[in-house]
Amino acid sequence: MKFKEIEENIYYCGLNDTDRIIFDELIPLEHGTTYNSYLIKGSEKTAIIDTMYPPFCEEYLKNFDENNVKNVDYIIANHGEQDHSGSIPALLDKFPNAKVVTNAVCKNNIKEMLLVDENKFITVKDGDTLSLGDKTLKFIMAPGVHWPDTMFTHLLENNFLFTCDFLGAHLPFENLYSKNDDELVSSAKRYYAEIMMPFRTMCKKYVGMINELNPKMVLPSHGPLHNKPEFILNLYKDWTADEPKNLVLIPYVSMYKSVEEMVICLKNKLEAKGIKTICFDVIEDDLGDIAMNMVDAATIILGASMVLASPHPAIANVAYIANLLRPKARFASFVGSYGWGGNLFGKLGEMLSGLKVQVIEPILVKGKLKEADYKLLDDMAQAIYDSHKEAGLV
Ligand code: FEO
Repeated sequence: MKFKEIEENIYYCGLNDTDRIIFDELIPLEHGTTYNSYLIKGSEKTAIIDTMYPPFCEEYLKNFDENNVKNVDYIIANHGEQDHSGSIPALLDKFPNAKVVTNAVCKNNIKEMLLVDENKFITVKDGDTLSLGDKTLKFIMAPGVHWPDTMFTHLLENNFLFTCDFLGAHLPFENLYSKNDDELVSSAKRYYAEIMMPFRTMCKKYVGMINELNPKMVLPSHGPLHNKPEFILNLYKDWTADEPKNLVLIPYVSMYKSVEEMVICLKNKLEAKGIKTICFDVIEDDLGDIAMNMVDAATIILGASMVLASPHPAIANVAYIANLLRPKARFASFVGSYGWGGNLFGKLGEMLSGLKVQVIEPILVKGKLKEADYKLLDDMAQAIYDSHKEAGLV
């Protein structure tokens, strides 16, 4: 495959992976993904920025032959995770004079995870530069978006910023550049939710830094390139804002329809009060859609059936993931149903212990809803409304 020229002597040499249906064996992918890699030919030296997911390594290396690349001097590793650094050993075999250029944390990761020798590295710090002759690479440490080893590479003469996972999307492409359409927004938001949201405050900081840097182009390591960077930066500005939206998210699992009835009833009451409410049946619906809605929700309600005296594992999984992803929700509660006993909300509450939420009085019913339970749902809807109003969201 011919490398795609971005500007003179700067090429895209990554690959689409349209068959991949899940990332990190955790959250489904809607479209597959891409593993972006870039080739920069300076007047004196040649560099690759980020490499390739190992299952695609053979095709990736073959493309260097097809594009007549005879020598590579530097392999810039912006991050040690193997979807980007996994082909470094094979590249070093192919280009034995190449050095891996990265920061100390990433170097240690690559040494341990990929068994690359110490003498293959050049270690850089924040602000260091590397000359390729007529082109200069400047390294910007960006720990926390999303690994401690993450850095960005700024190609100064072209004002291109290579941001690794940051500002990416799991979205294959043919024509290099983001269309900035609904598909991009949805893919980038899903990606942000799953990968970046736990590091929201760091993301916010680096969005500000990149805005000041004002790059001509942002080149991430997944998904299309941003030749109008303000579009993705504005999306991140919204997603990383401290203020949630007037939105209630209700993931639920319902064995005998009681929980589902509670959820639908609560949704109707909330929407009658002007609060947007989105419900997901966690057995049927996509975990990525639930994660995406965690980006904005002010309130998360978990609807749960009891299984053998404990929360149903499908909702426990959502609670566990919410705790991992650290959404900015301010309020949480539970609605649930049981048959003979157990600890439903205590265990779910413990699983959400990492969230900084105020808990609204939960509702537990035995089997079918009774008259008094509908009144409790009225009270819960009112409590959510009051909380949103007090937070200035209504
Ligand atoms: Fe796409 Fe953290 O690797």
